[in-house]
Amino acid sequence: MAHDYITKPFQKAELDAVIDQCLGTNQQNYPGEVEELSDDTFFIAASPVMRKLRSQAALVANVDIPVLMLGESGTGKEVMAKLIHKLSPRAHRTFLKVNCAAVPADLLESELFGYEAGAFTGANHPKPGKFEICNKGTILLDEIGEMPPSLQAKLLHVLQDQQFSRLGSRSVIKVDVRILAATNINIPEAIANKRLREDLYYRLNAFTLQIPPLRERKEEIPILLKHFMARMAEQYARPTLSFSPELMQACLHYHWPGNLRELGNFIKRYLVLGDDKLAINELHPKSDGHGAQFAGAHGGDAEGGLKSVARGAKDEAEAEAISRALDETNWNRKQAAALLKISYKALLYKIRQYGIAETKSHKLTAGA
Ligand SMILES: Nc1ncnc2c1ncn2[C@@H]1O[C@H](COP(=O)(O)OP(=O)(O)OP(=O)(O)O)[C@@H](O)[C@H]1O
Ligand SMILES: [Mg+2]
Repeated sequence: MAHDYITKPFQKAELDAVIDQCLGTNQQNYPGEVEELSDDTFFIAASPVMRKLRSQAALVANVDIPVLMLGESGTGKEVMAKLIHKLSPRAHRTFLKVNCAAVPADLLESELFGYEAGAFTGANHPKPGKFEICNKGTILLDEIGEMPPSLQAKLLHVLQDQQFSRLGSRSVIKVDVRILAATNINIPEAIANKRLREDLYYRLNAFTLQIPPLRERKEEIPILLKHFMARMAEQYARPTLSFSPELMQACLHYHWPGNLRELGNFIKRYLVLGDDKLAINELHPKSDGHGAQFAGAHGGDAEGGLKSVARGAKDEAEAEAISRALDETNWNRKQAAALLKISYKALLYKIRQYGIAETKSHKLTAGA
């Protein structure tokens, strides 16, 4: 059922207003926190900001205008483009991604627009470009800021009248392609130094989806961990691992510079190594340098039994308290022993026993 309508040509502000009006009702139709996009791709929206973006994607999917996806690396720009395609009337047609940064500049033109035989040396047979292959479908121009400016001008023509010519041909081809674009460059800077054509930018940003970094939507972390773990365990045919409160805390405190891609890779490593302590250690690389030692301390667990579990837990707690005391005293062992109320000798023995190592940063400060 139509909620509202907009007459063409419309202004971005009008579109925004209609979207804002629809949001309340649309959010009730939201199918849940995870949606299947294709065999191996899924989309999760588990925070207010992501649910709002998801609703905007659903609305803009039905209007054939370009959409520009912005966001740091790994925030989900490509996933968002796939979501828009899936929710659009073009869902049953082709979705193609062209990475403008991965293809050399001169090849990119023939990739996108195709060529006739004899257009250049080596062009023995005519070849359609991605725009032709993708007719009636959706194309994602990824890393659009890396497209050479001369090609940006040609792209602008396609955006204006949906027509172009193959390289080496005079006849015009008309296509009906939905164009989506993504980038993580600094746009004002790229426009100022002429890397990005301003006219192309204004064409592409008819609608912009700014995807926030994961550190600004940390409430999603537990849900993301749960879904990524379930998927990857199935993919690698391994039993799912649980997240201890300490591991969850470490995940919530970490700032995830690589965003969801980094979180996915982290889960893969945790699944393979299966070591909670190592995983925690990875998220606090500087707090202690002895994560790997815990695997040894846990060795007794293999024998099973409550006693070894208790011993492992006691060892862990002791080792943790000792490294904290050493951190606090900048590795002054006498002071640390006093703090821990044990003898100097006992402390030296325990440092050796648990393999607690002095971290680089301490050595540097101690030597300075
Ligand atoms: N909302 C999301 N739900 C589920 N998975 C996601 C989501 N966002 C990102 N991911 C996962 O994180 C990884 C990176 O996502 P994607 O490739 O879309 O990022 P990107 O913004 O295009 O990154 P880059 O700028 O580096 O190309 C993918 O494995 C993707 O499946
Ligand atoms: Mg990408």
